[in-house]
Amino acid sequence: MRVNLKAQPSCWIINRIKAITGKKELQILDFASGSGRHSISLADPKRKITAVDNDSKKLSSYNNFQNIKTMCFDLETNEKWPFDENYYDIVIVTNYLYRPKIKNIGNLVKENGFLFYETFATGNEKLGKPSNPDYLLKNMELIEVFKKNFNILYYFNGEQFKYKKSLIQRCAMQKKTSPTGDAFK
Ligand SMILES: C[S@@+](CC[C@H](N)C(=O)[O-])C[C@H]1O[C@@H](n2cnc3c(N)ncnc32)[C@H](O)[C@@H]1O
Repeated sequence: MRVNLKAQPSCWIINRIKAITGKKELQILDFASGSGRHSISLADPKRKITAVDNDSKKLSSYNNFQNIKTMCFDLETNEKWPFDENYYDIVIVTNYLYRPKIKNIGNLVKENGFLFYETFATGNEKLGKPSNPDYLLKNMELIEVFKKNFNILYYFNGEQFKYKKSLIQRCAMQKKTSPTGDAFK
């Protein structure tokens, strides 16, 4: 049997999230969710997943899954994102980068909530696609972008060998508590 490794979720993402439990169901946002490899793996009565992407065809392959709500939306226009801010227990972003709005992703996470980000890094252009620098994180970039409002729990920038060698960056972050007790951005 041939296994499509590209469709396999990132074990790093899945293991991190499965280690998080709460009394209430966890609200998870899978940002630019694509074919839903993470949403589908995580779907569970204890996790309510919102999967957003602008590709309705991809979303239609899992819009009937229990505990997954799919949303077709273009995340790169000036239109306000249709999500509550300071709301999600966990936001995951994988293999997606759009720098003009990257900081806004942090606003969606609630205090003490988590942001898990994994995508390609500079140097990947020597190995294959993506090679456009717009889609490649610079070393330490996730830390620089999010450190004001997040504590950095884990950071990695280097090679991975999943189905082929690539250069990636991973960062696990937990949102700080606002000093005033008010939600902050
Ligand atoms: C490389 S795929 C990654 C999908 C998924 N996160 C994963 O790791 O399997 C990038 C995804 O970003 C989505 N995307 C690209 N531009 C977008 C936009 N403007 N608004 C919403 N989604 C977008 C694409 O449709 C695609 O599904």
